[in-house]
Amino acid sequence: MKVLIINGPNLNMLGQREEDLYGQLTLEEINALIIKKAESIRVEVEFFQSNEEGRIVSTIQESAKVFDYIIINPAAFTHTSIAIRDALLSVKSKFIEVHLSNIFSREDFRQNSFVSSIALGVISGFGHEGYLMALDALNNIEK
Ligand code: DQA
Repeated sequence: MKVLIINGPNLNMLGQREEDLYGQLTLEEINALIIKKAESIRVEVEFFQSNEEGRIVSTIQESAKVFDYIIINPAAFTHTSIAIRDALLSVKSKFIEVHLSNIFSREDFRQNSFVSSIALGVISGFGHEGYLMALDALNNIEK
């Protein structure tokens, strides 16, 4: 099983960005934990982070040939991007939406997600654990 993990804008700033909301780990440190988890359940993972909507759209389009699933934290694009939703639909992507913070307990504008309704499921509010939970969930689905 091959899983692509996509992180959207400003998630490259983790570790120094609003630590009370997003935790103290950098994206690299989170990815290292994901790799450890993936190895333990024998899942292949690759990572992509971009601050640019178009690059995320293109990566989703290209992912279909290579990956079985996507785990995506679209960050602020969650609340704005019909283009990312359409890209996920265009390749019939099977994906889990992850957020570090609980978007439903935050500002009103964060409570709409353009991708939740087409996701396999949503994990929001468990910090970096959310990515590990998503990997476990996909692994269990595949069994
Ligand atoms: C986020 C929540 C978004 O509302 C925000 O724009 C982010 C991060 C999260 O992981 O909690 O950048 O996706």
